[in-house]
Amino acid sequence: MHATRNMAQKYSPWIFFLHLLIIMVHPFGTLELVGSGTDINKFLEAKATSDEDHQTTHTEHKHGHSHMHMDPSVMVFFTLKDLKVGKTMPVCFPKRDPSTSPKLWPREEAEPLPFSLDQLPNLLKFFSLTPHSPQAKAMQDTLSECESKPIKGEVKFCATSLESMLDFTQTILGSKSGLNVFATSHLTKSSITFQNYTILENIMEIIAPKMVACHTMPYPYAVFYCHSQESENKIYRVSLAGENGDRLDAMAVCHMDTSQWGRGHVSFQVLKIQPGTSSVCHFFPADNLIFVPKLQSHDSATM
Ligand SMILES: *[C@@H]1O[C@H](CO)[C@@H](O)[C@H](O)[C@H]1NC(C)=O
Repeated sequence: MHATRNMAQKYSPWIFFLHLLIIMVHPFGTLELVGSGTDINKFLEAKATSDEDHQTTHTEHKHGHSHMHMDPSVMVFFTLKDLKVGKTMPVCFPKRDPSTSPKLWPREEAEPLPFSLDQLPNLLKFFSLTPHSPQAKAMQDTLSECESKPIKGEVKFCATSLESMLDFTQTILGSKSGLNVFATSHLTKSSITFQNYTILENIMEIIAPKMVACHTMPYPYAVFYCHSQESENKIYRVSLAGENGDRLDAMAVCHMDTSQWGRGHVSFQVLKIQPGTSSVCHFFPADNLIFVPKLQSHDSATM
């Protein structure tokens, strides 16, 4: 166990990685991910020190929720009609505290560990967690979510390392032309995560034939739930202003076909709609990633 902790600490908090992505994708930018993730990790390690200065945002937010669990107080859903300049809506943008966030493990460390629900008792022992602790419950939920069947037309994968995330993404999107990655970026620092935000001008649509969305999951080390759907999705980059003056460049995805979603999906309750009758959109927290095939510069449009 102690060996594990030390091992995890050796590696930069994965937020450095994310921060780097954000720098690279901001404002419309593109990160070329061609080749193996190992090179990226090396690059990141080198960058980690210089990025550390920027990692000073502290927040009381300790939610481990991924959007898959869709706690309505965390995720606010809207429809494409609401994606208009001047529209105000309450949104939660959870922030991660780099000192307490799960670390991204290299593939060599993550892959030998089992990642399955039937191994949960052993995993709990390995991480020195007691069976009825909140952490144990979170691991159980994450493993169940990861083992659940994809819906029709969906491919999903839980990545336990950056390398496996990139492998999956390249398998889905094709690796020849490279990948672009987009993430929400916070342009100001504050500890407020839930408030009203107003959409400023320049709603930009990222036009892509396919996307892979990767959401962080609660787990002792960084785990991403990545999935891709055949049905149509629209991707937007939106400038938001919070009531307190916070500014964000936020990523939003609109699912245009919700007919295969379960009737009990929380977005239907929130929006008071039936499956398949309306688009369902949501913003992405800053630690979630959207991968698309490498775009040409003309592949975006301002609404
Ligand atoms: C957002 O604004 C509305 C209308 O002014 C208000 O009722 C609501 O409480 C606000 N929500 C948040 C999260 O501040």
